[in-house]
Amino acid sequence: MDKIISYQQQIEEALKHKNYGANPKELYEPISYIMSLGGKRLRPVLVFMACDFFDGDSSKVIHPALAIELFHNFTLVHDDLMDNAPLRRNQQTVHEKWNDNIAILSGDAMMVRAYQELCLADKSMLPALLDIFSETAVKVCEGQQYDMNYETMSKVSIQQYIKMIELKTAVLLGGALKIGAIIGGATEEDAQRLYEFGKHIGIAFQLQDDILDVYADAAKFGKQKGGDIIANKKTYLLLKAIEMADGNRYLKEELHQWINAPHFNATDKVEAVTNIYNFLNVKELALNEMKKQYELAIAFLKEIPVDDAKKQAFIKFSDSLMVREV
Ligand code: IPE
Ligand code: IPE
Ligand code: MG
Ligand code: MG
Ligand code: MG
Repeated sequence: MDKIISYQQQIEEALKHKNYGANPKELYEPISYIMSLGGKRLRPVLVFMACDFFDGDSSKVIHPALAIELFHNFTLVHDDLMDNAPLRRNQQTVHEKWNDNIAILSGDAMMVRAYQELCLADKSMLPALLDIFSETAVKVCEGQQYDMNYETMSKVSIQQYIKMIELKTAVLLGGALKIGAIIGGATEEDAQRLYEFGKHIGIAFQLQDDILDVYADAAKFGKQKGGDIIANKKTYLLLKAIEMADGNRYLKEELHQWINAPHFNATDKVEAVTNIYNFLNVKELALNEMKKQYELAIAFLKEIPVDDAKKQAFIKFSDSLMVREV
């Protein structure tokens, strides 16, 4: 874990010295604000880890790593606006602290700054990195659109849900690893295996995120609890609850009523739907799916012809994500 701490320090140090721009301040202050609120910095750490995994030169990864973190934070600013979320990292979201237009525009500027950061990478690798970065970024948009579409769709399959979270969340973890792997000198085939590892870890990560949205310790979570329930997000928990309530007329009706209620008290809805989840034990099912995705991830990691000892860093890192509280 020492290496991870050193990566985190390098990332924080580099971020501290970033200047995103000055005027108009309404455009740039929200960028400094969201970037300074911390966060786990998982994705830039993955870029470093992937490069090291293939014995690459880690001095070459800082710009792509920062680009990925900037892009991630941009998606959070827009995601919070789309999800109507009041809290992020225990602070007001950008659209709450300023307004919707500011969240849109400073988000756009962040996306541009992310590309500029990426363009500081080693020129010989830039075409390949730009290609992975852009493909990943557009997939995140696809996932976010499915996420929004599904809010108002009554029939969403588990398969559609898994594909949606693969796009909105998992490809960015995969993309971070692939970028690090390419910089580290991996073959295309091995970089792709590491991408697949990250993709399945990312799917497990989003399943955990959906569980935390309902079951997190509110004092640690830093986001509004129950936001997914309020917005009728088609999470694994809700889809399984809908499926299982089908055999129980009373539960089916109650769930249906909450999902379709045009007006409701948010606290009451969160409490009622959580009670249904508890009764049907859907959290257990989501944890099982997480475990399945974790195993799939590890299987891809095992295929890579690198010493087992080096794989331990990824295994430890993945394990820590599976029990995260924020
Ligand atoms: C939040 O990502 C968005 C999801 C994909 C669930 P993180 O949980 O990595 O957020 P930070 O960056 O650590 O705050
Ligand atoms: C996150 O999904 C996906 C992206 C930010 C692209 P969520 O909407 O579940 O993330 P949180 O819970 O707000 O962090
Ligand atoms: Mg959200
Ligand atoms: Mg969202
Ligand atoms: Mg969430």
